[in-house]
Amino acid sequence: MTQYKVPVIPGDGIGPEIIDEGKKVIDAAGEVYGFYVEWIEYPHGADHYLSTGELISEESLKELNTYDVIFLGSIGDPRIEPGVLEKGILLSARFYFDQYINLRPVKLLEGVWCPLKNKTPEDIDFTVIRENTEDFYIGIGGRAGKGESKAVLEVARSLYNVKFGLDIESDSEEIGYQIGMISKEGTQRVIRYAFDMSMQRGKHVSSVDKANVLSDIYGFWREEFNSISSEYPDVTTDFNFVDAITMWFVKNPEFFDVVVSPNMFGDIITDLGAMVQGGLGLAPGGNINPQGTSMFEPIHGSAPKYKGMNRANPIATIWAGAMLVEQLGEKEAGDAIVRAIEQDIKEAKVLTKDMGGSSGTSDIGDEIARIIKEI
Ligand code: NAD
Ligand code: IPM
Ligand code: MN
Repeated sequence: MTQYKVPVIPGDGIGPEIIDEGKKVIDAAGEVYGFYVEWIEYPHGADHYLSTGELISEESLKELNTYDVIFLGSIGDPRIEPGVLEKGILLSARFYFDQYINLRPVKLLEGVWCPLKNKTPEDIDFTVIRENTEDFYIGIGGRAGKGESKAVLEVARSLYNVKFGLDIESDSEEIGYQIGMISKEGTQRVIRYAFDMSMQRGKHVSSVDKANVLSDIYGFWREEFNSISSEYPDVTTDFNFVDAITMWFVKNPEFFDVVVSPNMFGDIITDLGAMVQGGLGLAPGGNINPQGTSMFEPIHGSAPKYKGMNRANPIATIWAGAMLVEQLGEKEAGDAIVRAIEQDIKEAKVLTKDMGGSSGTSDIGDEIARIIKEI
């Protein structure tokens, strides 16, 4: 029997509950498809931070970096100022592991209620490839008061190092600023990934930007998109301003195949993508480094209001688990998990409240695990 070691970070809020169901379903798939996963638990999240002061240490990151995949619940807790845990744990991990692809399928499963009138699973089946290490997410910015001040802002990556030295002269009472940056290397690699993926799908790639206003950063994105596009003569393309693509996702989702987006817009449009596929409880994602450690998680957050209530929908996490086992090379098991999710939804007997049911979080995992063993 093949054995895998997989680190798991349940995290905050509903994280521990949904990750339990994700593990349960992978364990069941392992029994059927002949593999065993040894789960290695990591405590990072709000409680760990409050009791030790540690977000995630370089040492833990180094250790995690020796694995192929990581399973993550969600990070974020109302007891702590917004951003501390999200940047200190989640973004630290995405950057440290150089997970430059954030792969977010937008796929309406059979039997799921879709808020878009007359749209079927045939109409809603595309993938968003979100750049995951650059843009306004690099975390450099600051505040400055009246007068003169200086700031040195650095972006340290394995791909490059960039340093900004700022001389600020301001007569505003106070300013806040944030620098967005994309690099040629970082942009080309994610766009190339999107084109490669489209070759296995519908051979169409849509680009997202706001080149009409933020032209230095996203005009550059567009230029790089055009240059990569010329390497793929069989792939058709189109450009979308981010405001317009939110409209097209709702109006004509069937038009899309692979959508490639800078980091921040990718964050925003994938919550919309989640809704057109039936809700945040149904949207999985993978933070992928094709040569390194990848991390799978639901795209939603820690939904603190549902913490400990056995009420959260674990399907996004279970589906992320299917992506995780596929990454390990267990494609059959991954497919079986998605089919079992679909069967559970079609039968419509064991569903959480957000999907019109009355079952608990753990009932969903039990049922999907049962279906996997049955099929
Ligand atoms: P959220 O995604 O946690 O929740 C928004 C709403 O969506 C919830 O209130 C709930 O109504 C619904 N929802 C989300 N997941 C659900 C599920 N599995 N089942 C049923 N309903 C679900 O977003 P938020 O409220 O903006 O953020 C809460 C915290 O999570 C914040 O600290 C935020 O920074 C963090 N966050 C973390 C991640 C992550 O770990 N990847 C992603 C997004 C937000
Ligand atoms: C997501 C989340 C994160 C992001 C936050 C919590 C840092 O919204 O995974 O979509 O913005 O990437
Ligand atoms: Mn998000």
